[in-house]
Amino acid sequence: MVKTISTSAIRDLLELTEQPHVISLAGGLPNPATFPVAAIAEATANVLAADPGQALQYGPTEGHRPLRAWVADQLDAAVEQVTITSGSQQAIDLVTRVLVDPGDAVVLADPGYVGALQTFRTHGARLVGIGSDRHGLRVDDLAELLHDGLRPALVYVVSSFDNPTGATLSARRRIALAELAEAHGFWIVDDDPYGELRWSGTSPTALRRLTSRTITLGSTSKVLCPGLRVGWAMAPASITKAIVAHKQAADLHTSALSQSVAHRLLGDPAFLATHLDLLRTTYRAQAGALVAALTTHLGDRIELTAPHGGMFLWARILDPSDNPVDADRLLPRALDSGTAFVPGSAFSVQATLPGTVRLSFATAGIDDLDEAARRLAEACERGGAG
Ligand SMILES: Cc1ncc(COP(=O)(O)O)c(C=O)c1O
Repeated sequence: MVKTISTSAIRDLLELTEQPHVISLAGGLPNPATFPVAAIAEATANVLAADPGQALQYGPTEGHRPLRAWVADQLDAAVEQVTITSGSQQAIDLVTRVLVDPGDAVVLADPGYVGALQTFRTHGARLVGIGSDRHGLRVDDLAELLHDGLRPALVYVVSSFDNPTGATLSARRRIALAELAEAHGFWIVDDDPYGELRWSGTSPTALRRLTSRTITLGSTSKVLCPGLRVGWAMAPASITKAIVAHKQAADLHTSALSQSVAHRLLGDPAFLATHLDLLRTTYRAQAGALVAALTTHLGDRIELTAPHGGMFLWARILDPSDNPVDADRLLPRALDSGTAFVPGSAFSVQATLPGTVRLSFATAGIDDLDEAARRLAEACERGGAG
């Protein structure tokens, strides 16, 4: 039987936003100007000179051992707990294969990360969306559902600088979530591709430090570049064994060349510190410019929280009578004006999210961000009462 996979609304939309005159805030891509091209070229040459037989050969399914050791060290874990995956998207898929049977409940924030939604749906999970606010998932709402008998196989969170909301799960909610995982026996899948992109404030304690019922996912996509396709899953040893079995069936292993290059770069503390600094400085300036531009051009017709990291800004746009606009209908008008965003509805699990939009500040230049906000305001004006 051919399983149907619903086309991603975002992918359809990205096609329209690729026209050259559109300044897009819709994409979820990191800024290509930050890609460490010269360092990758040098690392690749060094890898090929040092051990071409290893870098170009088949490798172990669980991953290149030095890279696994680097990840384990970062996460205070044992090497045996780490599997290198083809991006963290594959890690989400493998963890779902291991932990979720068709019909099992999977809890996630509503709105939620579209890639995870697709994976969970593909595997027949019963999705349970829980509302979120600027402190992340409403763990109190989850507690109520658990009290009423909900027994999820896993709870998926993007604990730092969530996609799409940009929210970071607060320290208090992390503790509460960890306690619920212990009490009810579910797994927390903490997908953390954005945590290193913090330019102000301090990170709350990681979920993995609060409960051993956490599986932590990471990625080089937002820290180096997505093209390497290197991510990882850190899980208890028994789950790691099952992840590795599924990975072997899926693709034998992640590219040995990519893993070796990633290890050279991540394992070089001087390079990594300088590069993270560049990313944080770049995204901080872009986020600041977008917040300023939106405030200038939309004034009190937009509600937003200034980000402290990540790549996304979640906002609510109001019409002149202070009612939320219809963001789905605003989008074609925004495209006419030469800008684009992703309407909140694209991330919905089951909630209606009136007036909400995800704006990415990662790819547009500072001047373009101001112009994009001006065009968005123009589209709002043309929409009248929305
Ligand atoms: C929350 C989240 N998880 C996972 C991914 C997938 O990243 P990759 O497979 O490139 O590591 C993304 C990509 O945008 C994301 O936003």
